[in-house]
Parts: sequence; C-alpha cells; structure tokens
Amino acid sequence: MTDSLETTRKDYQRSHLVFNQLPSDPSDLLIQWLEDAQGCDPEDYNAMVLSTRSMEGGSNSRIVLLRAFEEGSIRFFTNYDSTKGREITACPNVSCLFFWPQLERQVRIKGRAKLSGAEISNRYFESRPRSSQIGAWASKQSQEGTEGELESRIATLTEKFANEAISRPTFWGGFDIEPHEYEFWQGRPSRLHQRYCYRWSQSARAWTTQRIDP
Ligand SMILES: Cc1cc2nc3c(=O)[nH]c(=O)nc-3n(C[C@H](O)[C@H](O)[C@H](O)COP(=O)(O)O)c2cc1C
Repeated sequence: MTDSLETTRKDYQRSHLVFNQLPSDPSDLLIQWLEDAQGCDPEDYNAMVLSTRSMEGGSNSRIVLLRAFEEGSIRFFTNYDSTKGREITACPNVSCLFFWPQLERQVRIKGRAKLSGAEISNRYFESRPRSSQIGAWASKQSQEGTEGELESRIATLTEKFANEAISRPTFWGGFDIEPHEYEFWQGRPSRLHQRYCYRWSQSARAWTTQRIDP
C-alpha cells in the first residue's frame, strides 16, 4: 500500500485555462465550474471542505454541502452549537475548498461567514424531509453521546411532532460566506498546473487578478 502511494502518478490533461478569457468576476467562473462538476457527478459536486480556526488556535476542517450560491455568497446549513458553529462565531474568517477529481479542478476560497437570515433558514428547513427536520432537533451535533440516546430522542420527538408542522430549532440554520479571495486550479501535464487568483480590493471596489506558479 505505502509503495503505491509513492508510485501512483497521474498526468492531468483534461482541460486548460485561457487566462485572457476568464471572467472578471470570480462568481461567474465558480458558477461555470459548479455546472461542469454537476454534469460529471450530480450527487457530490456541491461538497466542500470548510476550514475554521479552532478554539486552541489551530485549524479544523470538515465537509459541508453548498446549498446556495447567491449574490456572490456561499451558503451552507448546520447546527450553530456544533464545533464549527462555535468556531465561526468566535472567528468568522473561514476557507472553503472544492475538489472535482473528474475535472482535475480545485477552487480555494477565503471569506467571512455570517448567520443567514431567519427567513432563509426557515425556508430551507421547511424544504427538508421530516426525518431530517427531526434529526436536526435531535442531534446535539459534535457533543458526546452514549449509544441509544440519539435514537431515543428521535423517538420522543417523532411522537411529539406527530401530525404537526416542524418548526426550525433556533440552534440550526445557515451561514453565508462572503468571499474576498478565490484561487482556481486546473491540473496540467507534468505538474505545470494553472492557478488563477482573484482578490477583492476594498479601495478599488473591484477584483484584482493574478496568475500563480504551480
Ligand atoms: C458528504 C458530506 C456532507 C456533509 N454535509 C454537512 C452539512 O451540510 N452540514 C453539516 O453540518 N455537516 C455536514 N456533514 C458532516 C460534517 O462533515 C461534520 O462531521 C459535522 O458537521 C460536524 O462537524 P463539527 O464537529 O466540526 O461542527 C457532511 C459530511 C459529509 C461527508
């Protein structure tokens, strides 16, 4: 196994970037790449690694699902009392990472997260299956639990909510990340990959761009 880790090689050659034809707004490129990724894998194309600063000052990463990309903001939903929820409240500077192996593409995004509006969270919560709504109420996400406790809370809540609409718990909802930096990576042969970076300039109120060496 460890031998194959050293010897596995792949030459990336599926696509290439034409730098002078890239859009001036990185949102447009992200949308285009999300659409391409959806075409390859309609199930997991919206999975992204979300990294936060841990309470100890290190970093913490996990997968979450992108649920909307609206007006340049990246939205996902979670339990606000979870580890990530608490970490974002303490330090809203986060990063997101998409990797689409079939397309040999990666996108790295840095931004600031804030709570989505209650209406947005309510609307999304209402669209979820009942079992997921009950799951959101029942799970004390990221906390220790003994075997059977979660199942027992689910059974109690299922009975409690029988025949009634389930409202969103206040400890569950969306975060909207407003990006200020993007890096688009396209795999190329011989490790000569292409990297294109967008940074938001507050003074110019515009995106500046840069090519970066692989
Ligand atoms: C494919 C996939 C999708 C996931 N989507 C979400 C999500 O949208 N929201 C969420 O809170 N956790 C999601 N998770 C679970 C998280 O990765 C993580 O285990 C959980 O949120 C607890 O993280 P935390 O303890 O750092 O807060 C997903 C995991 C996987 C593998």
